[in-house]
Amino acid sequence: MSIEIPPGLTELLQGYTVEVLRQRPHDLVDFAVCYFTRLQEKRLQDGAGAAADLRPHGRGVNFDGEPMQTESNGDDEEDEDDDSDFEPPVINRYNRRVSVCAEAFNPDEDEDDSEPRVVHPKTDEQRCRLQEACKDILLFKNLDQEQLSQVLDAMFERRVEPQEHVIDQNDDGDNFYVIERGLYDIFVARDGQSRCVGRYDNHGSFGELALMYNTPRAATIVATTDGALWGLDRVTFRRIILKNNAKKRKMYEIFVESVPILKSLELSERMKIVDVIGEKIYKDGDRIIAQGDKADCFYIVESGEVKIMMKSKTKSGQESNQEVELTRCKRGQYFGELALVTNKPRAASAYAVENVKCLVMDVQAFERLLGPCMDIMKRNITHYEEQLVALFGSSMDLRDPGK
Ligand code: CMP
Ligand code: CMP
Repeated sequence: MSIEIPPGLTELLQGYTVEVLRQRPHDLVDFAVCYFTRLQEKRLQDGAGAAADLRPHGRGVNFDGEPMQTESNGDDEEDEDDDSDFEPPVINRYNRRVSVCAEAFNPDEDEDDSEPRVVHPKTDEQRCRLQEACKDILLFKNLDQEQLSQVLDAMFERRVEPQEHVIDQNDDGDNFYVIERGLYDIFVARDGQSRCVGRYDNHGSFGELALMYNTPRAATIVATTDGALWGLDRVTFRRIILKNNAKKRKMYEIFVESVPILKSLELSERMKIVDVIGEKIYKDGDRIIAQGDKADCFYIVESGEVKIMMKSKTKSGQESNQEVELTRCKRGQYFGELALVTNKPRAASAYAVENVKCLVMDVQAFERLLGPCMDIMKRNITHYEEQLVALFGSSMDLRDPGK
């Protein structure tokens, strides 16, 4: 008996499958209901032309509110930028407790651009402190001058006390926070057990995930000292940062796919990386990493070349000031992972050779998103150690914090 597969079925299921892989929902049935409801709504909106959703080239919708290309649709370039025809379902923005599909992420249409701008007036002294706190915030790196100034205008100061919960896991997301000072522990509860998974030490930012993906807060953040934070409200965050992230996805999608260390990740995981990375630019000779420093970032070379140098050892094993070149990292290669993996200071220095662009990820995102790449990174440490033996003649245990 031959079984005929109805036209459109493969593409329909493919679209759903791709979206499941992107979003990794907990409940596949709920997710399916949402996905297909949305598809149907889209079809109703499109009227008679609706069958286009199921046409052989398989265009579905994704939960970022954008039309989606399935694998078989790679050559359909015309459609690629044509995301203006998809209207996400109307969802009450203020009723935010989410299921996976509660509110669409559609930066082009989500937040109303005509809404009044949020401005919190600041003294010169406050503005100075705010600018200092924000200067290394990766999510702000790709903003243009106007966007950055709107973000800074909208930010407000919040002081916190030891043991204060700035964010509670599973709450709805209200603000994004930039740290001016203070220590903050990160707790993640799973299977009824809360575990401290990291700490912010006087700089960095948190609270972006719930706002970006309309999910409940993914962690609890507790101040362990007095602290000062700068908050950015959800509406402004989504209006500016998400719009910018959509641009970033387009800009980096192809590059990130070509980065060998990220090959084992799903497309959705790579996109999450793009959402949180910032681009940093260095001039010839700039020191990107200094040997011995505390580490808080991971780098992928986007263009140019980075020279890795280590202070040589004297015969008695003492460090000299003379630096020896270990290696060079080119487009698509990474560096700065070692100290994050081993929890030790930077093992070597990194310098820009001519102009260099790097994609930079903070340690929290590194730990959260690069788990699947950890084995490869750890294996690579053995190569570093072998290289150091070849160069300096004595073995060096890069992994053991005791040595
Ligand atoms: P959000 O989910 O909005 O609120 C909690 C924040 O904790 C989250 O955004 C991240 O910014 C931050 N965070 C830091 N480390 C983690 C982690 N391992 N898992 C989840 N969130 C984390
Ligand atoms: P990290 O120690 O964080 O900062 C310096 C980086 O240099 C290190 O991570 C590695 O990414 C990179 N590196 C390249 N070759 C070596 C090597 N042989 N030993 C140590 N680090 C190396």
